[in-house]
Amino acid sequence: MIDLHCHILPGLDDGARDDEMALGMAWAAVHEGITDIVATPHTEDGVYRNSAKKVRAAVERLQQLFLEKQVPLRLHPGSEVHVHPELLDHLQSGQVMTIGDAGRYLLLELPMTNPPRVMERIFADLAGLGITPVLAHPERNEVLQEHPERLAAWIAEYGVLAQLTAGSVTGQMGKKLQSTALSFYQNRLAHIVASDAHDLKRRRPELRAAYLKLASLDLEEAARYREQAELILFGVSDVWRQLQC
Ligand SMILES: [Fe+2]
Repeated sequence: MIDLHCHILPGLDDGARDDEMALGMAWAAVHEGITDIVATPHTEDGVYRNSAKKVRAAVERLQQLFLEKQVPLRLHPGSEVHVHPELLDHLQSGQVMTIGDAGRYLLLELPMTNPPRVMERIFADLAGLGITPVLAHPERNEVLQEHPERLAAWIAEYGVLAQLTAGSVTGQMGKKLQSTALSFYQNRLAHIVASDAHDLKRRRPELRAAYLKLASLDLEEAARYREQAELILFGVSDVWRQLQC
């Protein structure tokens, strides 16, 4: 499995505190059956500023540590970018890390309450750069909870993708988030699930239970979620990668 949203890089944000915690999260992910993690530290949210260069170096260092400790996990660079007015400029100048450093998908963190009206403009500008936004946990957004039609319009008009958080799907983060997440799932208002792990306690790098829950509701759609994660990270699904080997 691929985890496209995980705060595993030590000391960069409110995720893993140090190498020991990052290694613990890595082993927990391996035991879940996760093979690839996109490390997505918060950036440009008014608290953290993790440039693409900084993320690249941190991923290289942690991947080296995984090799030394024989942790069978591939690490990929990414970031969770807060929406702000200079976002496009920062993307064009290479300051902001896209998913897998490929310049095709960007994990975007919406404001928790009222998504600004400028979102449509940002989506259009991103499309002009050939970048598809992946909205992090839209089920947590109060406006989208009340007005899912707005998310539907973003998906239909701008090809936006949406990422549910595993803890929302399983109910670990409360009934309200679970019912919103599952409603988005059943109404085709989301496309992938990721852990958004921050630690080894409340927000762990877990995906298996979420996929089982999704599969219990719609098996084919759950399979599409896994394939979509592969497409985002590798550009092709695992089936095609195996055929090419
Ligand atoms: Fe996150």
